[in-house]
Amino acid sequence: MNKDFISIADYSREEIEHIFNVTKDLKDKTKAGTEHHVCKGKTMSMIFAKPSARTRISFETGMYQLGGYALYLSPNDIGIGKREAVKDIAQVISRYNDVIMARLFDHAHMMELAEYATVPVINGLTDYNHPCQIMADIYTIKEHKGRHTDLKITYVGDGNNIANSWINLAAKLPLHLVICAPGGYEPDAKALDYARSQNLSTIEVISDPAAAVKGSDVVYTDVWASMGQEEEAAERRKIFMPYQVNSQLMEKAGKDALVMHCLPAHRGDEITDEVVDSAQSIVFDEAENRMHVQKAIIATLLNR
Ligand code: CP
Ligand code: NVA
Repeated sequence: MNKDFISIADYSREEIEHIFNVTKDLKDKTKAGTEHHVCKGKTMSMIFAKPSARTRISFETGMYQLGGYALYLSPNDIGIGKREAVKDIAQVISRYNDVIMARLFDHAHMMELAEYATVPVINGLTDYNHPCQIMADIYTIKEHKGRHTDLKITYVGDGNNIANSWINLAAKLPLHLVICAPGGYEPDAKALDYARSQNLSTIEVISDPAAAVKGSDVVYTDVWASMGQEEEAAERRKIFMPYQVNSQLMEKAGKDALVMHCLPAHRGDEITDEVVDSAQSIVFDEAENRMHVQKAIIATLLNR
């Protein structure tokens, strides 16, 4: 098992399945109210260079439930790479804490943090990827569909960090993954090349949403302008409007298709109220599972 959790592509299928087994055990114990202090006395620094609701709350609460303690460091506290070099912060925090969770802009900073930290580093999102989110998402799909392989998953929208993590997952689990994005907003080419080179999944990148969603088990979307792209929001809204996940598009997907969104959602942009609040939507199940999956990741890295 790697020291760090930076990308799903760094893990074997067996390791991913192991994390899911631990997730089930910890989720069952949480629901039953059974104490599970498997990280008793351990501490975790959480570095946030960007805002967050789910990531902060789920990591902080999860660490408490594991018998440990998590401390929140806001964008104003550390100034990673600005006030202080990444490699210095990595070595300093390693002297205080047992694990680091970080949400950063630059993926290279995440890699550097992991390289210089002697303790495990967990990636809570970068501009490149969001591995904890997609682990929680596929776990949620498994709960609803009874399986987590051989499904058609269609991501409609910006080829961003969420799309890249789906591609990373498709390098490890056999899926039919369709990324449906407008020209110029496709996902990371290297991530695609690597996933395709594994000859495990069918991965398509297309631009027609109606064709993309047909026969999908899951229709997934995310914001059109990610954190750090706020200035592009108006221009992106015009380009992406044909990619809105609305009732008409969901009719083309079929009534068995689940709807997912990592949240926060911009209701009325990438997804309509009607769809996000529909019976097909499992957005709050996936939000909940962030906590259960992340607890399993923390416990696995600390006990490896
Ligand atoms: N999905 C997700 O990571 O949400 P936050 O940005 O609120 O943490
Ligand atoms: N793509 C979004 C995901 C938020 C969880 C962003 O990076 O802002």
